[in-house]
Amino acid sequence: MGRIIEPLKHLITIEDLTKDQILEFLKLGKFFKDKIQSGTKRFPILNGKTVVALFYEASTRTRGSFEIAAKQLGADFVFMSADASTSVSKGESLLDTAKNLEAMNPDFLVLRHSCSGAPQQLVNRVKIPLINAGDGFHEHPTQALLDALTIQEQFGTIKGLNITIIGDIAHSRVARSNIHLLKKMGAKVTVSGPATLLPPEVESMGVASTTNIEKAVSGADVVMMLRIQFERQNAKQIPSTSEYFRFYGLHEKNASHLNQNSIIMHPGPLNRGVEISPEVADGEHSVILNQVTNGVAIRMAVLTILSGYNWEKNFS
Ligand code: CP
Repeated sequence: MGRIIEPLKHLITIEDLTKDQILEFLKLGKFFKDKIQSGTKRFPILNGKTVVALFYEASTRTRGSFEIAAKQLGADFVFMSADASTSVSKGESLLDTAKNLEAMNPDFLVLRHSCSGAPQQLVNRVKIPLINAGDGFHEHPTQALLDALTIQEQFGTIKGLNITIIGDIAHSRVARSNIHLLKKMGAKVTVSGPATLLPPEVESMGVASTTNIEKAVSGADVVMMLRIQFERQNAKQIPSTSEYFRFYGLHEKNASHLNQNSIIMHPGPLNRGVEISPEVADGEHSVILNQVTNGVAIRMAVLTILSGYNWEKNFS
């Protein structure tokens, strides 16, 4: 069967993807997840290729899972941290850094940057596939894809689900990518948090908004909790973390409004006792570590699809 889905060169945003392109990532991610769970961990799809990851911000999950994904596909993985160990500390620009890395002939560039829009600046200036691993408070497309795979595994579909995202919506790239994806897939999305962290323009993305967390949790199939992104706030936007936890955190009192089969998600890193209690984070509704597991499978799918490999022909 020939490819009927528009081939992608880069993965920069979920906003730019069609529903079919999202479904292709999910289908291949699920294929890799099932294979890994049944004991296959090596897929010689990217043998002889090199993935370079250039990170201007800290990361545990995204960095680790891209490295494991690349290696499980047979690629070499080179990690560059834009701190004192690279020439970024001597004033080298993002474009010069990317062009110099590209001159070393890698096959992919994975970029995390604190500036919203940083990957777009490189799109027409580098020739190799570019993957956005999170840019400022703009988008984190691979996080939304792994979240979608996690939801799909639990419910079989995303269409028609009530999905609530709670926390620092204003500064969250995870929220933005998830809203785009979940709306494209037919979910009903509600965002919640203190008014200072709920941007008024979010409703133009087709989501409902409430500052009442009990209302936000009641009837939700999926509750996605977010960390407060203090590093992206110019001024104090909550009076204290203890008050935040009391009024907007997911603790046993607020979680008591969940349905029996509701799931609780969090992209990590967790701030236990700020946005979520340890009991709820580790409790029966939590799928937080499933999200991390799915991160490897989804990033394998992203690297495979961007490489142009005809997986539908070879894996059928
Ligand atoms: N979810 C996420 O992006 O986590 P890291 O910052 O650890 O990569």
